[in-house]
Order: sequence, then structure tokens, then C-alpha cells
Amino acid sequence: MTEYSASAIPQVADMFRLDGKVAVITGGGSGIGRLAAHVLSQVGASSIVTDRDGDRAAEVAAEIRNAGGHASSYHMDVADESSVVSTFAEIEAAQSRIDVLIGCAGISIRAQTEDLTLEDWEKVVAVNQTGIFLASREAGKRMLAQGEGSIVNISSKWGHVAGPFNGNLSYHATKAAVVNMTRALAVEWGNRGVRVNDIAPTFLRTAMTEHLFTQQGFVEQAMDLLPLRRTGVPADLAGALLYLASPASALVTGHSLVVDGGWTAR
Ligand SMILES: NC(=O)c1ccc[n+]([C@@H]2O[C@H](COP(=O)([O-])OP(=O)(O)OC[C@H]3O[C@@H](n4cnc5c(N)ncnc54)[C@H](O)[C@@H]3O)[C@@H](O)[C@H]2O)c1
Repeated sequence: MTEYSASAIPQVADMFRLDGKVAVITGGGSGIGRLAAHVLSQVGASSIVTDRDGDRAAEVAAEIRNAGGHASSYHMDVADESSVVSTFAEIEAAQSRIDVLIGCAGISIRAQTEDLTLEDWEKVVAVNQTGIFLASREAGKRMLAQGEGSIVNISSKWGHVAGPFNGNLSYHATKAAVVNMTRALAVEWGNRGVRVNDIAPTFLRTAMTEHLFTQQGFVEQAMDLLPLRRTGVPADLAGALLYLASPASALVTGHSLVVDGGWTAR
């Protein structure tokens, strides 16, 4: 775990480096996960891109290698315990260590609650909540054995507040669970060197939200609730991801960093 002496003036650029570190990204084949894999490789990490769409994960790893970085890919379904357990074992065998986990895999199935089926509820819980548990457990046990590591999960502003775009109960529930799992894991693992934080973004234009962004009036309605008067794109999370993954945030754990254009400040 990084610690500084009382009089230390650190080389600030070094605090954001991850040279020689191994970063596992779940849901790395698209959107925010793809961005995270690129960002961490730019500061020296080996990005291990995992996704339930193994082809997309492989494409992202190839993009990173073509850009001069280190990356490999695995098919991994975070909702399937055997897939998570065996993939982390393979990663450990290949890399010897895991320094960073970006828990990004997530889904949303929108429906008015009066029409929401138990099957759809359970699908969202399996990926967004159980998936965070399984990936955190498998990465966390290896980080605890090393005595250091940083986990950054992607929650949502909907983990902090409920919103006007209703009919998304399972998403609100599971993202709030991620925020409090962050705190619980931070408390449980802090004295053994493992930090756990999450990032709570506002609407970012990705495959997950494309149907909203193309819906008449959506952007205008969202804009009215955003003090910064704009929605986002994955690149808007680059700084937050780098900060929480790297030694720059060495004294930060159990925090949910909103990157939301001011949405939750209203
Ligand atoms: N886009 C937004 O506005 C927004 C806002 C807040 C939070 N988020 C969260 O950010 C995360 C990434 O979302 P995104 O917008 O980049 O979406 P995306 O659809 O572009 O990417 C999600 C990725 O997760 C993968 N995935 C889905 N289920 C999986 C599973 N069971 N196992 C492994 N991989 C799986 C998908 O294949 C896809 O590659 C999600 O957790 C989402 O809830 C997104």
C-alpha cells in the first residue's frame, strides 16, 4: 500500500502511473469498460479485458496492443460463478498478480414495476449485483494475499437518487447495492491493503443508453436536470478511473465518486 512521509512532495505524475500493474476489467468489450482498459494501459498497466462477449473483448485488447499497450482478453460472464472463478484462475496463472479490478459489466432492463417480471428482475440482479460480488471476491482474495489492490466498481447516479425516467427499479436497486457494497468491502478489507471505491456516472452515450439518446425529447429533459447542461461520453470518466485505480487516491476508500454533471447536487 502506498504511504508517503510527512514531508514528502511526491512527483505528481508518478502517482498516476500503473507501470507493471495488472488491471482486470469486466464488461471491457464496450463503452465505459473499453475506455477503462485503454486508459489504464496508457499509464503502464497490462489491461486484461473480460466480457461475456469474448469477441468484443478480444477486439478491445487488439486495439490496445495496436496502440502500443499491453492487453489480453478472456470470455467471462460475471453472472456465472464458474466462469468468474475459472477466468480469474487463468488470469492469475498468466499474470501472477491482480492489482486493479474495474467492475464495469452491467445491464438495464426497463419496465414499469407493475409489469416487471421476476425473470427480468433476477437477470439484472445477477449481473449488476451478484456479478460485482463474484468479481470482487475473486480479485479481492488475490489482492489480500498480495497486501494491496484497488477495486473500482461502476455504480450510477441511480445508486444515490431515484429519477424521473422511471420504470427501472431493478437498476436503481442494484446500483444502490453497489454503492453500499463498496463501503462494506472498504471497511472489511481496508486494514489488509485493499481499497474499494465506485464511480457513479450520469447519462453517458454508450450501447446501453443509445435507445434513450435517440428517443424524442430525452436529451432535452435530461439537460434540464444537469447543472453542467450536458450528458456525457465514456471519456468523461477517464480522470475518475485513473484517480481511483492509481496511488493518487492512496488514502481514499469506501467512496462513491459522482461524475454526474451535478445531477445529484440538485
Ligand atoms: N451509459 C451510462 O449512461 C451509464 C451510467 C451509469 C452507469 N453505467 C454503468 O456502466 C457500466 C458499463 O455500461 P456501458 O454504458 O459502458 O454499457 P455497454 O452496454 O456499452 O457495455 C456493457 C458491457 O458489459 C458487458 N456485459 C453485460 N453483461 C455481462 C455479463 N453478465 N458478464 C460480463 N460482461 C457483461 C456487455 O457485453 C458490454 O460489453 C454498467 O455497469 C452500467 O450500468 C452506465
